[in-house]
Amino acid sequence: MTDRAAMPELFTWEFATDPYPAYAWLREHAPVHRTTLPSGVEAWLVTRYADAREALADPRLSKNPVHHAESPGARGKTGIPGERSADLMTHLLNIDPPDHTRLRRLVSKAFTPRRVALFGPRVQQLTDRFVDGFAARGEADLIHEFAFPLPIYAICDLLGVPAEDQDDFRDWAGMMIRHGGGPRGGVARSVKRMRAYLVELIHRKRAELAASPAGDADDGAPDDLISGLIRASDHGEHLTENEAAAMAFILLFAGFETTVNLIGNGMHTLLTHPGPRAELQASLARGESALLETAVEELLRHDGPVELATWRYATTQLAIGGQPITAGDPVLVVLAAADRDPARFTAPDAVYLARADNPHLGYGHGIHYCLGAPLARLEARTALATLLTRLPDLRLAADPADLRWRGGLIMRGLRTLPVAFTPEA
Ligand code: HEM
Repeated sequence: MTDRAAMPELFTWEFATDPYPAYAWLREHAPVHRTTLPSGVEAWLVTRYADAREALADPRLSKNPVHHAESPGARGKTGIPGERSADLMTHLLNIDPPDHTRLRRLVSKAFTPRRVALFGPRVQQLTDRFVDGFAARGEADLIHEFAFPLPIYAICDLLGVPAEDQDDFRDWAGMMIRHGGGPRGGVARSVKRMRAYLVELIHRKRAELAASPAGDADDGAPDDLISGLIRASDHGEHLTENEAAAMAFILLFAGFETTVNLIGNGMHTLLTHPGPRAELQASLARGESALLETAVEELLRHDGPVELATWRYATTQLAIGGQPITAGDPVLVVLAAADRDPARFTAPDAVYLARADNPHLGYGHGIHYCLGAPLARLEARTALATLLTRLPDLRLAADPADLRWRGGLIMRGLRTLPVAFTPEA
């Protein structure tokens, strides 16, 4: 029997600051729990690791909002701003096979681990540029001055957005991160501008590629991701203009706020856990990379940026963890709760940077597993290592209890992360 008296309140300010006690309660007493979200939509929250992993890979749970019982009225309440714009609806996180299989195969041809690995020096250069911006000052806000700009410029570079246009993207992204998927006009305007820009850029790159057909990934000719996407689509399955713009948009969107928060939440955890932080710093000073690699995974498990996986809808009557779910019901898999499940992780609330057995769900699981995980890892490792090496006495410049968290549904991240350190000479 569920002890309703002890049921913690969800979606309050306290919950946004530290949702983990409430998730522990749900995991224990109501592992598949129906709740009313702040938007008024009713949804099931799945909090145990085993149920979460199974649900993420269950083909009866569709990503397409047409399956939502309240659809189409409920559309656009999913927290992704692009979903308000019909032109951007057909992206990977909104579709099922066979369309998903086709589009994912296409983008995988362009978004290769090789392309990401080649991008390493550029990420280091960007990281140093942003640290240069505040290193001599002795204090900074790591969210605004570092975690926020780094991923947006990195993804713009990778996509092939010319340098002179990248500040526009920073502004549009800033508008989206400040206001989330809310109904404010500014967000809709930013999404519209971004889409118009991407459509134009895709046209331009297609024309450039047609003019220099020799341009191939192997000979140093245009090798940005959008060009790769166009090449893959022109040589194989076709990508419509809307699909191409939606693809570029989802790469920007999915790769932006997530990475801001991986760096922000990760640094926050390190700054509030002196033991693990000292261990990591010592390992970096010895020039090792093994601990840095497991550390990024552990920080992602312990306080990852994607609190809840993006929406899924039951296409048929089914059961999760024995709980019957009706066709048309939305299901939200709580990654943050699953990744602290004591049934799967030893001492789940502790931070063990060297944790070896760590099959966390921070990047999801199944066919929608994060496409950008190699890029996210590259950015997070570079960011953390650079900060801890260049600013070795970095410390929080605020009482941890005073830090404000964004109250979004899908993402978990800090509004600001004030730090102090000995200025670089
Ligand atoms: C999907 C997490 C960075 C692109 C996902 C999913 C998660 C996730 C949990 C699955 C969502 C679901 O099943 O509902 C993260 C985290 C990141 C990160 C924690 C950073 C720390 C990135 C980056 C990119 C990216 C840098 C691209 C540049 C995508 C795409 C999908 C996705 C395109 C959809 C894949 C599909 O539906 O097939 N990500 N992500 N992500 N991610 Fe990431």
